[in-house]
Amino acid sequence: MTEKHSSADCGGCTLVGRREFFRDAAFAFAALAAVGSAAGAMPVHAMTALSVRDELVTYPFPTADGVFIDKNKEVIVARAAGQVYAFMLSCPHQNTALRWNAKDQKFQCPKHHSQYKPDGTFIDGRATRSMDRFAVAHEGANLVVNLDKVFEDDRDHAGWKSAAVPT
Ligand code: FES
Repeated sequence: MTEKHSSADCGGCTLVGRREFFRDAAFAFAALAAVGSAAGAMPVHAMTALSVRDELVTYPFPTADGVFIDKNKEVIVARAAGQVYAFMLSCPHQNTALRWNAKDQKFQCPKHHSQYKPDGTFIDGRATRSMDRFAVAHEGANLVVNLDKVFEDDRDHAGWKSAAVPT
């Protein structure tokens, strides 16, 4: 379901390599941590999996609104407005690591400045779809994310919309 984009998708922009992606991710996380404690904002936290079984990754179910980033698995979990979502860390345009702007309460791409709501909905920028969501399930005190099941809003809007669990 995921799709690799060519440089032609962006008028000749350079595709982001894996090393650059992780450098961006590390920088993004540091920047996010700095703004995550702003008053009234959804804070951002580092997150590690409780367990991994094949493509199923288990995290503690978020008990408060916020953004949780697992750099190792390249997963963002967000709890907002009574729903919990899991997103790919990479921007759907050209795979740059997304950032959470706690001050403005939105995800932002540092490369071409696409912006997304806390539920991943595309707001503005060069991307042509919302943030890609993983299938999620609420199991006891945990959130299980299926990395093998990715929903792209423009290809499967109904599946994308349903990829959430209530708090
Ligand atoms: S990589 Fe182009 S908008 Fe994110």
